[in-house]
Amino acid sequence: MSASTQISAQPLSQNTHLLTWVDKIAALTKPDAIHWVDGSQEEYDRLCGQLVEGGTFTRLNQDLWPGCFYARSDASDVARVEDRTFICSLSKDGAGPTNNWVNPYEMRKKLKELFNGCMRGRTMYVLAYSMGPIGSPMSQLGVQLTDSAYAVVNMRIMARIGMPVFAEIDKGEKRVVPCVHSVGAPLESGQKDVPWPCNQEKYIVHFPETREIWSYGSGYGGNALLGKKCFALRIASNIARDEGWMAEHMLILGVESPEGEKTYVAAAFPSACGKTNFAMLIPPAGFDGWKVWTVGDDIAWIKPDASGRLRAINPEAGFFGVAPGTSRRTNPNAMDTLARNSIFTNVALTPEGGVWWEGMTDEPPAECTDWQGNLWTPEISKQTGAKAAHPNSRFTAPASQCPTIDPAWQEPEGVPISAFIFGGRRPTTMPLVYQAFNWSAGVYTGATMGSETTAAITGTVGRVRRDPMAMLPFCGYHMGDYFRHWIKMARNLSETPRIFHVNWFRKGPDGEFLWPGYSENMRVLKWIVDRAHGRALGRETPIGWMPRYEDIHWNGLYFSKETFDELQKFDSAAWKQEVLGHEELFIELHDHLPSELVYERELLICRI
Ligand code: GTP
Ligand code: SPV
Ligand code: MN
Repeated sequence: MSASTQISAQPLSQNTHLLTWVDKIAALTKPDAIHWVDGSQEEYDRLCGQLVEGGTFTRLNQDLWPGCFYARSDASDVARVEDRTFICSLSKDGAGPTNNWVNPYEMRKKLKELFNGCMRGRTMYVLAYSMGPIGSPMSQLGVQLTDSAYAVVNMRIMARIGMPVFAEIDKGEKRVVPCVHSVGAPLESGQKDVPWPCNQEKYIVHFPETREIWSYGSGYGGNALLGKKCFALRIASNIARDEGWMAEHMLILGVESPEGEKTYVAAAFPSACGKTNFAMLIPPAGFDGWKVWTVGDDIAWIKPDASGRLRAINPEAGFFGVAPGTSRRTNPNAMDTLARNSIFTNVALTPEGGVWWEGMTDEPPAECTDWQGNLWTPEISKQTGAKAAHPNSRFTAPASQCPTIDPAWQEPEGVPISAFIFGGRRPTTMPLVYQAFNWSAGVYTGATMGSETTAAITGTVGRVRRDPMAMLPFCGYHMGDYFRHWIKMARNLSETPRIFHVNWFRKGPDGEFLWPGYSENMRVLKWIVDRAHGRALGRETPIGWMPRYEDIHWNGLYFSKETFDELQKFDSAAWKQEVLGHEELFIELHDHLPSELVYERELLICRI
């Protein structure tokens, strides 16, 4: 046990519930030491120093990457594990057919076994965190007990943590969500640790009624940073349903026109389908005076205000972004954000002590160390197909460092939302953009969203699956009830946001993307904003309103009408197949589906 852990073994809270619970979990998991995390810079530096000593972190070349660290995970622990994620509601029906369910009594028995002595030889950190700005009426509090210092330092970037949060907890006004996390790798006395401890057996468990999270066996991303997907989506979706608000897998951005009009939109795209990129968009040539501001890149908590308008906050304080494909050309704002005080996991390490990933530069480095610690060169890659960075390698970077961070991003009341956008990775069928006819048609559009699977989840990549509202892996209760909640939300609104669907990923017969994407998505965004304000035209189609070629602002880009028509093409044969795909999901959910969606489906069938 190091001296530093003893110094902070002093409890930093007076809350007796918290103290009793910490004792109880320590008695179960049997750590060597307890460290109450104060959240200070000194503590962060010390923990990073310890991670360097232990071999988990490599300090990057500080001239090139000031304040930055590099980590390589175990090769088996690289993404969220959806098949090991459980919603243990009291009834199986509460979790619904799209979630894994185990009887909570059985699961608690199993967890007791797994966690018994699981922190032996390690320090247990008591990490208090706030999702949302401290003191915001929309914020929620959690405490994560974890034996991973890596999780602690990442959480310091991703959430508000430490002393101010303990002070909130001690006020005793807000419920605290208890989260227990272990990498599941106890150490015998004298046993040397490995750089990335984890366990082949993984459990990511949620008890929605008691608002509890238990995570075992993984140190990576959404499995280990429990404020993110486990709390801010799976548990928060339950709280939101009960309290009349929404917890969504959405980015939030603000569009500012040359006249200074500001319009906020929230967009739900599945994992690794472009939220971070869209949230940090820089308008292309031909958009002089336009600005896009970033509020959040992954999660939105949305609530009606006193006047009946929806307002959204970003509950996070950092970005846990996909590294591959991020470059000066595609996302300069992300490159500026991650240039300092950031943590890189599973990218490649260059001989100069810098990082690299596929797509970061046009020219790959002559050699580097790949995410598994092996020598990587462009030649080796050509022969073996080996990637320098894992496709789900990520950067953890403070949101405050984003050049386009919105001045209102920490506004306690949130920002007003004028439009919702749904979108997935669809090589065929789905046009570049359309607007749903109204709220219930829009909910149907979101509910039946499909997307190709990506590397953000372990399993097959590139298979189209239904991913309602990009929430398939994140909705903490029955998906049919979630749709019903969406339908119900509109009833209390004075003004409903308009709903759109986009697809940046449609391909032509040559297999290439038809749409240049990234910055050019501004052209679609402008049409969306103009439609939301009721000042852009479009034409009615069987699936919704679509822009005509002349309704899009093309200044600064030559894009032919022929390609645009191909991008927007409504193919009725493909849509008949598409609707059958919707049916698969609806059959599963039928006894909980709101009737609005059943009728929307009938209307759609009639129109196509
Ligand atoms: P999560 O953090 O997993 O929730 O992902 P995300 O939705 O934030 O996705 P992100 O913005 O990180 O993008 C994922 C991948 O999609 C990256 O490799 C991007 O380069 C690529 N991408 C993003 N936007 C576009 C686009 O407009 N067109 C194309 N073709 N690719 C894009
Ligand atoms: C996602 O998979 O949607 C992510 C990354 O944002 S993780 O935090 O690992 O869930
Ligand atoms: Mn995400």
